[in-house]
Amino acid sequence: MSLQRSKIAKILREGKIGARYKVMGWVRTRRDSKAGFSFIEINDGSCLNNLQVIAEKDLPEYETEVLKAHTGCSLRVVGVLAESPGKGQNVELRAQEVKIIGPVDPLVYPLQKKRHSFEFLRTIAHLRPRTNTFGAVARIRNSISYAIHTFFQERGFIYIHTPIITGNDCEGAGEMFQVTTLDLEAIPKKDGQVDFSMDFFGQPANLTVSGQLEAEIYALALGDVYTFGPTFRAENSNTSRHLAEFWMVEPEMAFCDLEGNVALAVDLLKYVFQWALDHCQEDLVFFNRFVDNTLVQRLEKVVEDDFQRLTYTEAVNILAEADRPFEFPVEWGMDIQSEHERYLCEEAFQKPVVIVDYPKQIKPFYMKLNEDGKTVRAMDVLVPRIGEIIGGSEREDRYDVLLERMKEMQLDPEDYWWYLELRKFGSAPHSGFGLGFERLIQFITGLSNIRDVIPFPRTPGNVSF
Ligand code: 4AD
Repeated sequence: MSLQRSKIAKILREGKIGARYKVMGWVRTRRDSKAGFSFIEINDGSCLNNLQVIAEKDLPEYETEVLKAHTGCSLRVVGVLAESPGKGQNVELRAQEVKIIGPVDPLVYPLQKKRHSFEFLRTIAHLRPRTNTFGAVARIRNSISYAIHTFFQERGFIYIHTPIITGNDCEGAGEMFQVTTLDLEAIPKKDGQVDFSMDFFGQPANLTVSGQLEAEIYALALGDVYTFGPTFRAENSNTSRHLAEFWMVEPEMAFCDLEGNVALAVDLLKYVFQWALDHCQEDLVFFNRFVDNTLVQRLEKVVEDDFQRLTYTEAVNILAEADRPFEFPVEWGMDIQSEHERYLCEEAFQKPVVIVDYPKQIKPFYMKLNEDGKTVRAMDVLVPRIGEIIGGSEREDRYDVLLERMKEMQLDPEDYWWYLELRKFGSAPHSGFGLGFERLIQFITGLSNIRDVIPFPRTPGNVSF
């Protein structure tokens, strides 16, 4: 039987000294010793660490393969695992056969230097996953996605696939990408307006900004549900924490109030951070060393500490008393800006903060009105360095109050007839939230720009590939 390929992660974890292995991967570096052999560092993406291959000069293919194994080429090596006398690795593969699968011209391969700037790497999104940083980000995204599903599945939540194309605007902010098959060169018009009856769906359609409204439908039938999918926002925000396409985790729970919602959000974050510490250790140590040397300590502290809980009004009072100026003036009714969020969790409390009960005029129509008539049962979770990572609320479950709020916010109740009907037929208190997956990955990796925690970032003016 021919030798099966082994993944490097497995060899480094449990490889047997003296056993033969076949590996396939990409050359990170090659060094030729005068003593008559070459060291090839090979990486196959299964883990951060490379496998060191020793290729002796007396291999028949030494000149034709080994000496042409330049950085970046794909390679197959069969060899015997041995203890490594050198520093930096415990084992090495003594090559018996080396074969180049895909060659590289070293004069034109862009990933030559050891370290490249993040800006440069963004221009080569097709090659950047071959760097340590982007390989580690991809593995962490994978592991944390698994953690999120595990968290909800262990608690009996049902995973719902909410639509990508919708006819509604959940957040009511009008920041939507339109979906159309109309010919932009010859848009059909009726009475001076675009005639959407000629469009694919016979009405305006857009990419979803959130799966919440559809998740509510399923929560009011199945109890506890969640969605985890891509969401799209056409907001023109060129910041280090905004993307036009990002992934959101959205649980929705029937018979659950704001208290239960806050408790779930805190449990989810702590679970995921502990998971990262337990399952992504090698990649975290890398980020701790090269990106942010307080990372692991911060994750451990967040898992241990309670989150600080306060109302919006209390938060505004703390900001008003802060001994420093803010760009955006602090007054009741204002939106809490990024600078305020960071002051609260990095300086005032030095831990994650949950803010509840926001003024109704700065929050969407679906949030439950408090008895004061001025605030809604909203909650935002803020974390150091990132700011808002979760936004959610208890939902307005009273038909009349919801109808009134829609009118106040100039939304056409007819557009949301089904959403209103849910409040007519077996309505129930229910709550949910949205966790921005890329902001979560920023917090876990310490990477400061959101464009570096998603494989293919979409931002204003950037959709090249
Ligand atoms: O606060 P948001 O807008 O909440 C909602 O969309 C609700 N419908 C969610 C719900 O209750 N089911 O967004 C939720 C989170 C934010 O806290 C943030 O982490 C992330 O989504 N987010 C973004 N992440 C990257 N780029 C953007 N443009 C983002 N906008 C929001």
